[in-house]
Amino acid sequence: MEIGTIGAGAFAQAFAKHALKAGHEVKLSNSRGPGSLRETVGSLGPRAAAVSKEEAAACEMVLLAVPWDNVPETLADLLAWKNQILIDGTNPFHGKAGNFRLADVGNLSTSQLVAALAPGARVVKALNNMTVPNLEAEPIVNGARRVAFVSGDDASAKKRVQNLLESFGYSVSDLGNLRDGGLIQQAGGPLAARNLLEQGECQR
Ligand SMILES: NC(=O)c1ccc[n+]([C@@H]2O[C@H](COP(=O)([O-])OP(=O)(O)OC[C@H]3O[C@@H](n4cnc5c(N)ncnc54)[C@H](OP(=O)(O)O)[C@@H]3O)[C@@H](O)[C@H]2O)c1
Repeated sequence: MEIGTIGAGAFAQAFAKHALKAGHEVKLSNSRGPGSLRETVGSLGPRAAAVSKEEAAACEMVLLAVPWDNVPETLADLLAWKNQILIDGTNPFHGKAGNFRLADVGNLSTSQLVAALAPGARVVKALNNMTVPNLEAEPIVNGARRVAFVSGDDASAKKRVQNLLESFGYSVSDLGNLRDGGLIQQAGGPLAARNLLEQGECQR
């Protein structure tokens, strides 16, 4: 599968490594254009490519991995979603690392806001609760699998993201719809930044 990333920072690169290892092609994009990502894709390997934001967004599965303050402008440029799956990996922080403030998102989950800004995309919240060091580490720790979460309103899209994350090695737990599950896994919710492991028989 071709997977696009909108944003190519620490989080998107950690995700890309898993997707590449699982055999997918990854098209990464950022705000400065493909030329600025040459070194990054070079280090990721031959199945990684640097592309425009529009090209990344045309993939059948797309990871949204930009700072929260940049989400509206990022999605405003991408109005032609054609039923693709948009994995919302964002967390609602204003500002930059070292000076974060939790954004007030009113009565919605942040992924509901993302879905409203990306009409035609099937939004699934996933991986946002993992820190980059945990995402970069092996999904299997001493025979236990790290737990990843998915939330979404479209059951088939959610299942496909679940399958993808399971292929990375995670144990995946479905938290329900974008509102209820989203609120649980987003920053400020009870699962934010939790690093949970599932003991038991490991298939890999
Ligand atoms: N870091 C973590 O531990 C972590 C964990 C889970 C989730 N997250 C979430 O993932 C998101 C990204 O975090 P990060 O740590 O990867 O940040 P980061 O390293 O600062 O990277 C941000 C990326 O977003 C791109 N970007 C910004 N505005 C854009 C636009 N208008 N169009 C296209 N690309 C744009 C940047 O491109 P340029 O460099 O070209 O501007 C950069 O590639 C955030 O919402 C964060 O909350 C982070």
